[in-house]
Amino acid sequence: MAAAASYSLQASSSIASTQPQLNLQFVSNGSKSLSFSSQLQYFSLKSCHARDWNLRRVNAVARTDMSSDAIEVDITLSPRVNSVKPSKTVAITDQATALAQAGVPVIRLAAGEPDFDTPAVIAQAGINAIHEGYTRYTPNAGTLELRTAICHKLKEENGLSYTPDQILVSNGAKQSILQAVLAVCSPGDEVLIPAPFWVSYPEMARLADANPVILPTQISENFLLDPKLLESKLTEKSRLLILCSPSNPTGSVYPHKLLEQIAEIVARHPRLLVLSDEIYEHIIYAPATHTSFASLPGMWDRTLTVNGFSKAFAMTGWRLGYLAGPKHFVAACGKIQSQFTSGASSISQKAGVAALGLGYAGGEAVSTMVKAFRERRDFLVNSFGELEGVKISEPQGAFYLFLDFSSYYGSKVEGFGVISGSESLCRYLLDKAQVALVPGDAFGDDSCIRISYAESLTTLQEAFERIKKALVSLKPTVPV
Ligand SMILES: Cc1ncc(COP(=O)(O)O)c(C=O)c1O
Repeated sequence: MAAAASYSLQASSSIASTQPQLNLQFVSNGSKSLSFSSQLQYFSLKSCHARDWNLRRVNAVARTDMSSDAIEVDITLSPRVNSVKPSKTVAITDQATALAQAGVPVIRLAAGEPDFDTPAVIAQAGINAIHEGYTRYTPNAGTLELRTAICHKLKEENGLSYTPDQILVSNGAKQSILQAVLAVCSPGDEVLIPAPFWVSYPEMARLADANPVILPTQISENFLLDPKLLESKLTEKSRLLILCSPSNPTGSVYPHKLLEQIAEIVARHPRLLVLSDEIYEHIIYAPATHTSFASLPGMWDRTLTVNGFSKAFAMTGWRLGYLAGPKHFVAACGKIQSQFTSGASSISQKAGVAALGLGYAGGEAVSTMVKAFRERRDFLVNSFGELEGVKISEPQGAFYLFLDFSSYYGSKVEGFGVISGSESLCRYLLDKAQVALVPGDAFGDDSCIRISYAESLTTLQEAFERIKKALVSLKPTVPV
């Protein structure tokens, strides 16, 4: 349980203008704040419940004037939004950024974002697009040029045959996944998600009024799904299995053989579809190899393959991802997108074509980045491997290390309190070591914390030293 935070309310008002101005600020332990600045003449705070990490709920009723027939504004939010948790990775990244901007020398290892610049050839294609006036709406599904290039990539690199009308380009893979979940799930359907999972999957299921069914995995099994567990959890409500390989947050890569076993189970359940999130496909460390789930016998018809440009091509800000699948499903996702965002940025799509033009698996530009990620992984695995009480499953891909620190839970730190789980350990490491990490509970496994090694080796060396020093005051509480 997180310790309760104390909040104070500071209010000031300004009546210099014809519309009185009311400024409200909530300050938590002097570090976090939430502000309202309002031109409302009456503002009443109904209740405020807060914990250390976030202000959970503020119910307020606002009136447009103070006369007796004032109209109350109902600020109730939809049950759908209330059922969804905000992304902890985004929250911690924002918190660490704010600390860094305030001059605190925080090392930020929370974000899932490559530290490299977008390769110059790709960036130039975007610049050219602007100069050439390629700045108008594109078709909703994406330009034919990009969709054709994606089909070529899927054929060459993944052994998958698609036509451009079976591809939907979106503003990032995140949108591709959400649209797929919304398109195929009915209320009450079950979405099967192996844990540790990418933070957004369960919340996306909830947004679709479906129920996430979490399938735990073990660090001793490299966080890979046990097919028997999957089989035991399937019901007539099971609609979607989400697989992510290489995985965020564990870096695990599903071996071909294991995917075949999973495919055999999936094949026995006609209602079950698979969403295969392959966004880290190119960030993989030999001898591990990537298998596209749709390439397995009988799986093409029921697999929605998601991929994108953010990770391998260091293009997070360009917001470009895509979905490939049977036309029926892709068209349904396209229908949602047409009423939602329309097509992705024309400029980014030109850049995406250039990215796919770099050659097999992104050519040298990508392999140079993967080489650097591998060197960092090796450094962290070796270093943490020598620390008392830390369990590791060596990642085979992506740029995350998911370390089991649970042997430190229960430790008491003077002036801080008890390290009760991943969240308090991350808070402790942020306070004491000034290293921002993400607690494993955000990914469905409280025993671990996630380190993103999308940072230079020098920074990682410094971060490791700081963490090691901070851990000295915590003794592993259980023998390991
Ligand atoms: C597993 C996984 N899937 C999808 C995404 C979404 O990527 P984007 O929307 O940037 O393409 C991310 C980003 O963090 C991710 O880690």
